Amino acid sequence: MRKLKVGLIGTGGIARGCHIPGYQSLPDECEIVWACDTNLDLAQDVAKTHDIPKVTADYRDLLADPTLDAVSVTTPNKHHLKPTVDALNAGKHVLCEKPLAMDGDEARAMCRAARASGKILQVALQMRFGGPARFARDYIDAGHMGEVLYARAQALRRRGVPGWGVFIDKEQQGGGPLIDIGVHILDLTLFLMGHPTPVSASGKTWDKLGRNPDLWNGMGDYDRAKFTVEDMAVGFIRFETGAVVVLESSFMANLKDDLFQTQLFGTKSGAVVKGWGDDPVEVYTEVDRQLFDLRPRNVPRVESAHIAEVQAFVRAIRNGDPSPVPGEQGLVLNAVFDALYKSSVTGVEEPIDLTV
Ligand SMILES: NC(=O)c1ccc[n+]([C@@H]2O[C@H](COP(=O)([O-])OP(=O)(O)OC[C@H]3O[C@@H](n4cnc5c(N)ncnc54)[C@H](O)[C@@H]3O)[C@@H](O)[C@H]2O)c1
Repeated sequence: MRKLKVGLIGTGGIARGCHIPGYQSLPDECEIVWACDTNLDLAQDVAKTHDIPKVTADYRDLLADPTLDAVSVTTPNKHHLKPTVDALNAGKHVLCEKPLAMDGDEARAMCRAARASGKILQVALQMRFGGPARFARDYIDAGHMGEVLYARAQALRRRGVPGWGVFIDKEQQGGGPLIDIGVHILDLTLFLMGHPTPVSASGKTWDKLGRNPDLWNGMGDYDRAKFTVEDMAVGFIRFETGAVVVLESSFMANLKDDLFQTQLFGTKSGAVVKGWGDDPVEVYTEVDRQLFDLRPRNVPRVESAHIAEVQAFVRAIRNGDPSPVPGEQGLVLNAVFDALYKSSVTGVEEPIDLTV
């Protein structure tokens, strides 16, 4: 089988740090043939550094190339929709960065385009490809936790507003920590719970710290006057199964240490699953009326979940498999965020719209 030909739409941080190494880790299976960025100098620089033969500032040039099989959409959130839909309509497979879209309506349009084209739309949600997720999912699937009734999903930074890119700009990103990092921990949680269907959510967002010029920030400097997203969000999400998830995320919040973990409460046992680090999984269980706290020692080590995600994309295309992370699962996350942002304004629980 010939090598897949792949193009990059957006050659910024995530493309360089994750998508390029991902594709280049499979040199016999795929090759990157186009680098596209509206910042042409950047695209040229990236192409030169990584031996990518064709460069453009206009993604339509890639889509007009009949030999191109697939694209990564690695632009800011506002620019996911159009390149993704156009690429699918042009018959290309798409690996689109997270969050899939600015909101549920955009995500729906992307899912419809994927269904109509029959091509793969994969959402870049790499947490599921990490060792802790793989171990915990197998543990839950084996029935060791019983029914997961409740989870507390936390992506909390004490002083971590990204000082680069457009992460503080609601118009470009659609939101702040909820949509940017909350998306990862909610996805991991739903993956571990077996993707129950969310029905309604209640939430609250704030922006009191992020706009305050007197506060220190640990992730670079930024213009406080341009901070238009929330700095902290909490949500309460109900599922068709009767399960509940509480989601907390922040760029700035007054807590001791940053947290990136989900805590699952099952009928047989509970667990804390962290995104990374030493001892990323801890299980709390009971045997013969004795309580045990367990630390599994053989959690699989995945060198880079980002690279594993790109490899899964390439292999799904080559094998004719379904999307490893389908657009519809990206839509679920956007639809939950829509309900939480709306609820913060209305002050009441809002329904979650999953129609495609
Ligand atoms: N999966 C993760 O953990 C992770 C981490 C970081 C960023 N991201 C996601 O990746 C996306 C990009 O983030 P980033 O940190 O790489 O941002 P970035 O600002 O470093 O790069 C984005 C690039 O896209 C280019 N661009 C903008 N509009 C374009 C268009 N229409 N056509 C072509 N190029 C265009 C910009 O010039 C810029 O170079 C965001 O959606 C973000 O949420 C995901």
